[in-house]
Amino acid sequence: MNALQLPLSEFRDLAARVTAIAADFLAGLPAQRAFPPVSGAETARAFDTPLPEEGMGTAALDALTQVLALSRPPTGRFFGYVSGSGEPVAALGDLLASVLNQNVTAWRSAPAAATLERQLLRSLAGALGCHGFTGSLCGGGSMANLMGLAMAREACLPANERGAQPGVIYASSEAHMSIPKAVALLGLGRENLRLIGADERYRMRPEALHAAIAADRAAGRTPIAVVATGGTVNTGSIDPLPDIAAVCREHRLWLHVDGAYGVLAALAVPELFAGLSAADSLSLDPHKWLYQPLDCGALLFRDAGAARSAFCYSGDYAKSLATDPVEAFAFFDESLELSRRFRALKLWLSLRYHGLDAFRGAIRADLRHARQLAERISATPALELAAPVELSAVCFRWRHEGTQADANRLNAAILQRVIERGRVYLSNATLGGRFVLRACFVNHRTTDADVEEVVPEVLRAARELQQ
Ligand SMILES: Cc1ncc(COP(=O)(O)O)c(C=O)c1O
Repeated sequence: MNALQLPLSEFRDLAARVTAIAADFLAGLPAQRAFPPVSGAETARAFDTPLPEEGMGTAALDALTQVLALSRPPTGRFFGYVSGSGEPVAALGDLLASVLNQNVTAWRSAPAAATLERQLLRSLAGALGCHGFTGSLCGGGSMANLMGLAMAREACLPANERGAQPGVIYASSEAHMSIPKAVALLGLGRENLRLIGADERYRMRPEALHAAIAADRAAGRTPIAVVATGGTVNTGSIDPLPDIAAVCREHRLWLHVDGAYGVLAALAVPELFAGLSAADSLSLDPHKWLYQPLDCGALLFRDAGAARSAFCYSGDYAKSLATDPVEAFAFFDESLELSRRFRALKLWLSLRYHGLDAFRGAIRADLRHARQLAERISATPALELAAPVELSAVCFRWRHEGTQADANRLNAAILQRVIERGRVYLSNATLGGRFVLRACFVNHRTTDADVEEVVPEVLRAARELQQ
């Protein structure tokens, strides 16, 4: 027998042990620190062991304890970045997806997985008000943004055969870093990304967008696409989608909506996302605001033909021999990836298990938690809100009378100390040159009591620095 063949009884025992480890880990989460007390040198030492020539058998699992101990646990007191909390039913779906090991290149290679993913995305698009959109799951918002802009480029200035021609992309000054990265990778050059100014709520100014497009046209340049953001990474601001869509219509530009952070909140608060269905392409991140385990991003689009123009280029070895439209479908004709894991299984299982209403409730709780924190900050004289709370991101800082540089240094030191204390985890943002602390709620484990810990922790950290 091949040495890699695992007797079934051993698989059952191992699976039971791993699920027991996972369940114990989940049981211990409420008491866990928000970040492990560990240095880079300690993690490097912990895993600096040679790979064994002889198998260790079940003893291999012993080291899992250390992996868990040195990990940043998904507690209800984690409020950093835009980082979902890892819904456990979905995690079990991931386990099964790995056992099934479907390569979701095409129906031909993964009939159930390909069909399920397509239908799931159609349903999700419909639930967001984007009826008729289709698309595919991918690694995350960065990949989805790259693919959305590749579609835009091919639709407006075809480049696949002859190479990229000069063209201009527009996004707000608050756009995520994945947008300049995508513009660079598509050969357009970051100098041809116009960062349009934002208003006092950090939303793109449509009149400034209009003026920038007109100026580029007058100078003989070719505008391609506008990226509107549905939930900016710093402040959760939602660009004025109807106005931006009108500008795109007038100038015949592609509208890509980067909804990686915020657009899934349209399930709970659709009124904030009016105009969303005017998008030509739309990035989503179920691994953020649908609480899915990483990774689970998605690109949706209105016109599958545009996706095919951008991505269809198949070797004979991959081409489907089928004529039936379901059986002939290939994701690689509409996306960048060929080999793809069965991401839809976890999302489908998790949505079916809990129901859409439970997800809507969890998103509303996150929105409420952001307002709760904002109220506590406003009631604390030493602190000030640094931006309006548009979705679930709260930016704030310690008030400081000195120079901006001093205020920035002080707030950075407070953040560092908050993280070292380990009770809550916050991250940071820079708003108009001001370094601010930032809490973002996309966490189904967070309770009202967890939110109440943030301000006292910041005050304690500041006090420790003064000692
Ligand atoms: C607005 C926005 N776009 C894109 C991304 C990138 O998503 P990912 O980390 O899944 O690549 C993020 C991540 O936080 C984001 O907030």
